[in-house]
Amino acid sequence: MNIHSVLSDRVYQALSFLVNLPINVSLKIHPSTKSEYGDYQIDGVMDIAKKFGMSSLCLARKLVDTLDLNGIAYKIDVISPGFINIFLDPNWLSQCLICVLSSSRLNIVTVIPKKTIVVDYSSPNIAKEMHVGHIRSTIIGDAFVRICEFLGYHVVRSNHVGDWGTQFGMLIAYLESIKIDLNKKITLSQLEIFYRFARRKYDQDPYFSKRARDCVVRLQNGDSRCLKIWNNLVKLSMLENQKIYDRLNITLNLTHSMGESTYNSMLPEIVKDLKKKGLALENKGAIVIFLDNFKNKRGKPMGVIIQKKDGAYLYSSTDIACIKYRCEILNAYKIVYYIDSRQHQYLKQIWSIAQKAGYVHNCILEHHTFGMVLGKNGKPFKTRSGATIKLTVLLNEAIKRARKLILNKKPNISKKKLDILSEVVGIGSIKYFELSKNRIINYIFDWDQILSFHGNTALYIQYAYTRIMSVLKKSYKIFKQHSFKNKIKLTTKNEKQLAVHLLQFEEVILFVYQNGTPHVLCSYLYNLSVLFSVFYEKFPIFYEENEELRISRVLLLSLISKTLKQGLNLLGIKTVNEM
Ligand code: ARG
Repeated sequence: MNIHSVLSDRVYQALSFLVNLPINVSLKIHPSTKSEYGDYQIDGVMDIAKKFGMSSLCLARKLVDTLDLNGIAYKIDVISPGFINIFLDPNWLSQCLICVLSSSRLNIVTVIPKKTIVVDYSSPNIAKEMHVGHIRSTIIGDAFVRICEFLGYHVVRSNHVGDWGTQFGMLIAYLESIKIDLNKKITLSQLEIFYRFARRKYDQDPYFSKRARDCVVRLQNGDSRCLKIWNNLVKLSMLENQKIYDRLNITLNLTHSMGESTYNSMLPEIVKDLKKKGLALENKGAIVIFLDNFKNKRGKPMGVIIQKKDGAYLYSSTDIACIKYRCEILNAYKIVYYIDSRQHQYLKQIWSIAQKAGYVHNCILEHHTFGMVLGKNGKPFKTRSGATIKLTVLLNEAIKRARKLILNKKPNISKKKLDILSEVVGIGSIKYFELSKNRIINYIFDWDQILSFHGNTALYIQYAYTRIMSVLKKSYKIFKQHSFKNKIKLTTKNEKQLAVHLLQFEEVILFVYQNGTPHVLCSYLYNLSVLFSVFYEKFPIFYEENEELRISRVLLLSLISKTLKQGLNLLGIKTVNEM
């Protein structure tokens, strides 16, 4: 159900009677900005009139005369110099609401035929604990994945973990040098310390750095001893990361791990092919691609190295192979990368190479960039001592704070309920805070704003949901005792506002899919909760005396609860029935 598409079909149909379409015209049909402008307004008639040398008021009037919104709108106003305001018919809205309510997926469209979207997200580097720097890609990427799947796309989650390259050479060389017994359990934090030592040794000891580089080449050539150590490191890291994904209610699992190493066997062929196509050249022993469309600091074509002098491949070589794999083997219709904005230029170069090489076939490439997480001081969010903040620590803190908050409100809550609730609220709040910010800008991590009952927060919406659920629980009997009358009556302005808002759910989901902007869905759910709260405080529901109205309001509440739950679910946020 989509008010926008119903209106736009009819409006364009009417317009095509009046002027010779298609030309380069578009009308903007959108929810009205003020209630006196009706429910939807049409802008852009003036531009069209200008193109045809007509008076805009005259064209707007003719459009309204031709426009058939019988049974959909009860009034259409024309405002000088050519704005059109549409007032939707409450009866039509109420029929639409019943339709939506009786559908298990709230009557939201699905794409046919199923197309494949590859989503590259989370992608931490192996041998290090996940930290706050991974939170954005992981959480926003996962919400996007859920939305794509809900719309019917076939989604390939591609966790492009950094499991290849120089750092593994270092680590393997170091572990060999200290003769570590890999049959004994080592933890990820120990591994991270080893990595730090290895890095220091690499920078200071030329003999060690040579060994580390040899290890990279050995690894890339399939040396069994190196591979064995490497396998252990990857397994250990991914099992640790999985714990974070599970706690965060992220849909990634071990089968989605398609790290840089996945593409290793393709690399020699790719380099050969790029040379053959005249794209890659030998330059001071390395293999380089010079791109005319990107300039370096001296204004010369930018060089992208794809193979080093010693034969080792790079992050870039892997990404080129990866595009080929996603297009040719996975048959991707679209590839979406959730990577921070600092890699934008790099990605564009890789895409450009893949396109020139003919590896991209009818495939849309999108980079959904995001900014940084900052501390209250406006600098990158770190611990007091300046270290990166581990996700485990951050999640523990969220749950601890949620616990305190809940105990404050409900000192007598049982331990079991408290455990469940602090998890749902703590994790939900962190995720929601992340998702509610426009991803392209930096945001400030602030616990007071994250865990608040006021404003655009998870708690506000989760709490509104529990209020609805408690009314619905009481009302269950109403449905049992009386014949179920399928009618939602929109008797007040608030009910009508709620109706229009509820029927905009599909529009919002499609917008978020198109733009990869979950914050728009957050605002939608928040506004729905606000509309509900206002209505709930003003009008009786369960205690409404008129039976028909009582049932109607309960039905409306039921749809609000379903929409909130579905919306939060698409964001990967859980709900509870009571708080
Ligand atoms: N592991 C990389 C990093 O931590 C992110 C990988 C993003 N995906 C990609 N296809 N390059 O920066």
